Amino acid sequence: MDQSRAPYFQALLDYVDAGVIPFHTPGHKQGIGMDRAFREFVGDNIASIDLTPMPGIDDLLQPKESILEAQRLAAEAYGADRTHFLINGSTSGNQCMLMAALDPGDKVAVPRNSHKSLLGSLVMSGARPIYMQPEVDEALHMDHTVTPATVERTLDEHSDIRAVYIVSPTYYGVAADLDRIFEIVHARGKLVLVDEAWGPHFHFHPDLPRSATAAGADLCVNSTHKMLSSFSQSSMLHQIGERVRIDRLDAVLKLFLSTSPNLPMVASLDVARRQMAMQGEALLSDTIALAQRTRALINEIPGVYCFGEELVGRAGVFDFDPTKVTITVKDLGYTGYEASAILRGRYNVQVELADLFNVVALFTIGTTQAAADRLVFGVKELAREDRPVDIFSPSGVLERRLKTGTYKLPKIPPLRMPPREAFLAATEPVRFKSSQGRICAEVITPYPPGIPVIAPGEEITAEIIDYLDLELRAGVHMQGPFDPQLKRIRVVK
Ligand SMILES: Cc1ncc(COP(=O)(O)O)c(C=O)c1O
Repeated sequence: MDQSRAPYFQALLDYVDAGVIPFHTPGHKQGIGMDRAFREFVGDNIASIDLTPMPGIDDLLQPKESILEAQRLAAEAYGADRTHFLINGSTSGNQCMLMAALDPGDKVAVPRNSHKSLLGSLVMSGARPIYMQPEVDEALHMDHTVTPATVERTLDEHSDIRAVYIVSPTYYGVAADLDRIFEIVHARGKLVLVDEAWGPHFHFHPDLPRSATAAGADLCVNSTHKMLSSFSQSSMLHQIGERVRIDRLDAVLKLFLSTSPNLPMVASLDVARRQMAMQGEALLSDTIALAQRTRALINEIPGVYCFGEELVGRAGVFDFDPTKVTITVKDLGYTGYEASAILRGRYNVQVELADLFNVVALFTIGTTQAAADRLVFGVKELAREDRPVDIFSPSGVLERRLKTGTYKLPKIPPLRMPPREAFLAATEPVRFKSSQGRICAEVITPYPPGIPVIAPGEEITAEIIDYLDLELRAGVHMQGPFDPQLKRIRVVK
């Protein structure tokens, strides 16, 4: 196919050129009815292509013309058999994967460090999770991926599992041994579904981890908007082979995607694919080189550590994506949350993620040398500054726990009920600190990274209460609980 084409973007341009009189949605009518300040800021061009499916502008839910061609071009570029454009991020990709591949009650093996959208997908599909423990890195205070051995053991213990769901790479750019895992799963006639939200660029550079499509995933989802250049919320779902029924996947997409997709967003997927197909390797070579130079400079700063290739080979670290620059600040005496706030407040640098020990800076094809320099400057200054006394813990409890190592990531709590049943059950609020032993009905997630500490159907353990208390003291932004302060929690009645 001709990868230099962007057929869907072209269809929108043709509509604008034709000067059609619009008696259709959206109501702003190509910007004319839009709030003036907003229109002046965003510009007329974007408003003029914010249209709706109609003759000449293909329908995302029933693609026959330009979207069909754009999706085929994307499939070819990614080495997939079929690709679908998505408009509610990889969140909808996860939902559609589970809805298409599984029937209610089916067992699916999932890593416990999956993104919260997996929980939503379990609630929607009625599939039952068999949680797999990812490898825990105590030194960096993060979960890596699940190993082939863990997948094999899980399948041995539960021979009726229908699909294995893998998250690779992690938020920190650590990738799993996909080839070996797929071999194990496919040899037993099961499905592999991959959340590759953080790896839409992998397929376009030989120095990046192997992509899920290259390894032969039955279905995999990419957040094109996260690491490539499309607009926020635009993602892709790739399919290889026909182990997942094509008609079922089509039916799910037609039912769950909006009937009013944002067309600039869809067009941005078309051009992001063109950009990667035509120039991906060259652009990504520059990004990788910039990230690696920056990593080396950060590693010269006393008290900070930025992991790289040396991690490969540790349990759960089969490969790693150098464009994720994870800066471990714990030896400076800061939490990642503090470091993130200082970098933003004093040096105008905003990182993607902060957790207890780390901050993560994303390097993409849009990252400039000047931006990288500023990051290095900010981290240098951060390392030079005197540690502010007890800014995150008036009692000093957190500091003491960090020193004594009693901050460990909690173990997977027992699953007492399927997530769907617990989420939809009659619930009652109880005091969080006295909720031990109750069945959680909410998804409680430090965000980012969006990995639930406790999920619907799980028993609230003393360890979970203690860990969430620690995270709250450290200043985490908690997503999900009906009480954002987490003084109370909703449990199954
Ligand atoms: C591993 C993972 N999967 C899925 C998602 C959801 O992706 P999106 O924000 O595109 O809906 C995220 C978001 O951070 C994620 O980290």
